Amino acid sequence: MKKNVLGNDLRTLRNLDQQSNRISSIAQKFEETFGSPPTFIASAPGRVNLIGEHTDYNDGYVFPVAIDKYINIAARQRTDRRVTLHASDVNGSWEFNLDARHSISQQAPAWSRYLIGVASLLQAFGRKIAGMDAVITGDVPIGAGLSSSAALSVSATLAFLAAGSELVADGFPVPENEKKELAALCQRVEHEFAGVNCGIMDQTISLLGKENHGLFLDCRSLEHEHVPLNLAGHYITICNTKVKRELATSEYNKRRAECAKGVDILKQWIPNISSLRDIALTDFKKHEEELPILTQKRCRYVIEENTRVLDAVSLLKTRNQQITEKTDEALIQFGGLMNASHNGLRDDYEVSCKELDLLTDIARSITGVIGCRMTGAGFGGCTVSIVHKDALETFQTRVKKEYREQIGIEPEIYLCRVSDGAQVFGRKELS
Ligand code: GLA
Repeated sequence: MKKNVLGNDLRTLRNLDQQSNRISSIAQKFEETFGSPPTFIASAPGRVNLIGEHTDYNDGYVFPVAIDKYINIAARQRTDRRVTLHASDVNGSWEFNLDARHSISQQAPAWSRYLIGVASLLQAFGRKIAGMDAVITGDVPIGAGLSSSAALSVSATLAFLAAGSELVADGFPVPENEKKELAALCQRVEHEFAGVNCGIMDQTISLLGKENHGLFLDCRSLEHEHVPLNLAGHYITICNTKVKRELATSEYNKRRAECAKGVDILKQWIPNISSLRDIALTDFKKHEEELPILTQKRCRYVIEENTRVLDAVSLLKTRNQQITEKTDEALIQFGGLMNASHNGLRDDYEVSCKELDLLTDIARSITGVIGCRMTGAGFGGCTVSIVHKDALETFQTRVKKEYREQIGIEPEIYLCRVSDGAQVFGRKELS
């Protein structure tokens, strides 16, 4: 057996091992709460976006990966229409009836609204779902820009579908041709039940993620391609600022509005455009002076970011053809595009903050870090860095020390494994 094949086999075994530990610990929590084992577990990953920020709601391109942090729902179907939920990480409980779907009580905790929303929309679309007893648990940090809420909606969607299905005893393969439709349903849950006017990226990657691959997604057509991530001894490293600004949601919605306003104004000179995705940078430059200054900055960032995603994906694809273990020019350029993305988010789109900028500055000053940027909506949350394995120790020590010295709190650092999208485990995996 060749060395690299053996290496891969060991890695697969280790992953399977981690997966079975995760499943058995969730199953145990269910049993502690409801007195007997669950019949299935739905599990959906969070994500980190490598490049293509704030482009999804502009019909543009994104390149996220699914990470090995999950929201899990261990459940057992019921014969009636009740849904009994226990969120074990926050020690909260909630119950609702599937037939009372339009009345969300004021007291319903924030997390339960996602499940009520999912149940309501699945039924509105005529899907067969059933009542269930469920325990929710997870390790996607909440409010950290790693899409814990998308993972919750996706996990809930699969749990309700599994509860309504007879397939579940032997696991529940999520039909490939339904994944995009389910992602759109989960996006609507955010819009209609959480008041966040988000794009389609987070829900799509949570469903469509693939181990060791990035998802190159065209957010207009929803065409996608899984691009192998051959990072040659580098790790995707996430640093959590541990801060979240209250204005994140309102500023997010304002950015969307600014982009739409830019398109409306630019239509006077560039007809037949329906989103910023349709505008080439050269055309934009001819007319940018006509826009109010803020609109101009927001639009410039989005148009440039779309180009960066296309360039970044093409660099990786070219590089994959001549697989090399060295930090080559293509990887360095990929990192450069990540850096430029952050600079645009900081200066033109203005969704960064001092904690994200500090983490980015520290990371970039370390030899062996090829690129670093904020990831997700911004105003707090996380950065993503590509770090060579020989620099990991220095990276962890310096980031922790320098961030603590300047901000007064310890950041969290996660080495992330690029994982598969959401799954439902049935009898086979639970036994
Ligand atoms: C949040 C939204 C996504 C996307 C990102 C920014 O994560 O949910 O749809 O807009 O912000 O890229």
